[in-house]
Amino acid sequence: MTSASGTGGALVKPGDAIGILGGGQLGRMLALAAADLGLDVHTLAPETDSPASRVARKTWVAAYDDAVALKEFAASVKVATIEFENIPTDAVDAIVAAGTPVRPDARCLAVSQDRLAEKSYFRDIGIEPAAFARVDTVDQIQPALDSVGGSGVLKTRFSGYDGKGQVRLEGRVTASAAWASVEAQRSIIEAWIDHERELSVVLARTADGEVRFWDPPDNIHGKGVLRRSLFPSAASPDVIERAKSTAKTLADSLDYVGVLALELFLTRDGRLLANEFAPRVHNSGHWTPDACITGQFEQHIRAVCGWPLGDPARHSDGEMINLLGAEANDWEKHLADGARVHLYGKRRTADGRKMGHVVKLRPRG
Ligand SMILES: Nc1ncnc2c1ncn2[C@@H]1O[C@H](COP(=O)(O)OP(=O)(O)OP(=O)(O)O)[C@@H](O)[C@H]1O
Ligand SMILES: [Mg+2]
Repeated sequence: MTSASGTGGALVKPGDAIGILGGGQLGRMLALAAADLGLDVHTLAPETDSPASRVARKTWVAAYDDAVALKEFAASVKVATIEFENIPTDAVDAIVAAGTPVRPDARCLAVSQDRLAEKSYFRDIGIEPAAFARVDTVDQIQPALDSVGGSGVLKTRFSGYDGKGQVRLEGRVTASAAWASVEAQRSIIEAWIDHERELSVVLARTADGEVRFWDPPDNIHGKGVLRRSLFPSAASPDVIERAKSTAKTLADSLDYVGVLALELFLTRDGRLLANEFAPRVHNSGHWTPDACITGQFEQHIRAVCGWPLGDPARHSDGEMINLLGAEANDWEKHLADGARVHLYGKRRTADGRKMGHVVKLRPRG
């Protein structure tokens, strides 16, 4: 017997179907990796014509609270996973109740869905986040900002991504304007960290507790959105070891199964502060299929299926560049330049929307 929490052993065989909740580019790349391992992929997501659905064998276009669709989807697959952390945990519970394990589990999602729960959880397990304070009302904004040192960022607790739902605050602020800019949603204020660099640890963990890491990259953001990941990170070996060990502490404590990413700030005085984690494959790991023996998408599929992990060793140095909005129009130029080009097949282009990425490789230094 295997349980939803996972007790090891192969849940799944080539030829079986696995499920992905969510329909975005991460689901698409997971589905492609799964297909390469002989699996069929079924997706469930509310959007029609989603990037993942176009490479999947079967698709349920359904809301995450559609009990009938969730039940059918669950019955059609041996194991399910997620490509988007804001999947309602009730949807995961419904799939588990129908007898199909979901990896990672609902608790991992719940912790990552709420910035307050996430940062509190980091503290509880001995991982240091930036100083933060809870903000439930407009009146709490100024005291919260003062409590983190007067320079901070107001972030909504739920549903933020790519820097959305965030506003920088400094000194004496007009609380009503700040509150309006987060649409009066429950939030936190976090100290602004004048960091030397941002890096991330992307790892995979099996149900038996085996953990494998990719070499962490340095991440460069613009307007809150990841622009480039440079691999390997130029941080010192000591920083890299501390970053990996912090991410392992998190994955072990969650009894995590699959690929997980932890975003970190390295402060100018050498401290590593946890920003946030993603219970899924991560944009800062998009270079791994091109630059490593085993990439993050394949590794995630292996882990959730209970299969042996692959070797994450890196054979090339280089950089991953996100193609946002109209930048994806340059695909032909990138192909001609010899970059590895990955396009997500999104029907609609919008400013800042992640449309694809390119990976530029050079021999390992
Ligand atoms: N407290 C902070 N101090 C300094 N920079 C910050 C801080 N919080 C966020 N940033 C910058 O904004 C980026 C996005 O912030 P964060 O990761 O919290 O948001 P997000 O919307 O969840 O983003 P994503 O989903 O793209 O990772 C960070 O990677 C960092 O560059
Ligand atoms: Mg982030």
